Amino acid sequence: MKVLVLNGSPNEHGCTATALEEVIRTLREEGIETELIQVGGEDVIGCKACGYCEINEGCVYDDLVNETAAKFEAADGLVVGSPVYYASPNGTILSFMDRLFYSSGFSKHMKVGAAVVSARRGGNTASFDVLNKYFTISGMPVVSSTYWNQVHGFSAEDVKKDLEGLQTMRNLARNMAFLIRAIQAEKEKSGLPEEEHAFFTSFPDGK
Ligand SMILES: Cc1cc2nc3c(=O)[nH]c(=O)nc-3n(C[C@H](O)[C@H](O)[C@H](O)COP(=O)(O)O)c2cc1C
Repeated sequence: MKVLVLNGSPNEHGCTATALEEVIRTLREEGIETELIQVGGEDVIGCKACGYCEINEGCVYDDLVNETAAKFEAADGLVVGSPVYYASPNGTILSFMDRLFYSSGFSKHMKVGAAVVSARRGGNTASFDVLNKYFTISGMPVVSSTYWNQVHGFSAEDVKKDLEGLQTMRNLARNMAFLIRAIQAEKEKSGLPEEEHAFFTSFPDGK
């Protein structure tokens, strides 16, 4: 059982990383393998809606997105962490997530997802909501905790003092491990629930 963890912050040892480290440590205690992928700081171009991925495998930009997609396909869960920039997730992680989810053709059904956000002061829940939407359009159960998955700080030292924030991360990781095990057991017993894909309603006739 494996969880991929994305750090959207360009600060490899900053606030978001501190929160994610707590998630990773607890997941490992629960016997779940983890892999951290540093996304922040990379030059991640946005989706240009070229349609390449609709006829080919993966994104036309063959970069960290395609590398991560292969790992995501093999994983049971995904944690995405982002600092809050102007009350939204940061631009790098948004470009990355748009392309990762849009260009990867494999089913994400019943892989579990969790978003983690870090803010100095405000915009956490708006950012959290944005990140969760990648999961809820993909048949991915969203893992919750004892608060919305957020920490507060301007530096890693601040986050270490956010004891409730770190507690939220540990509870999140335990819930994630539990859900992965529960889904795995049910998958072995009864398979995945049916998913219909026959309709794609976009009103091409303008009515
Ligand atoms: C461009 C930019 C915009 C920011 N906007 C916000 C904001 O809207 N709300 C907030 O509380 N903090 C904001 N911050 C502060 C960081 O999001 C916050 O300190 C975060 O915890 C840093 O995480 P990191 O160390 O992982 O990068 C902003 C920082 C930057 C660089």
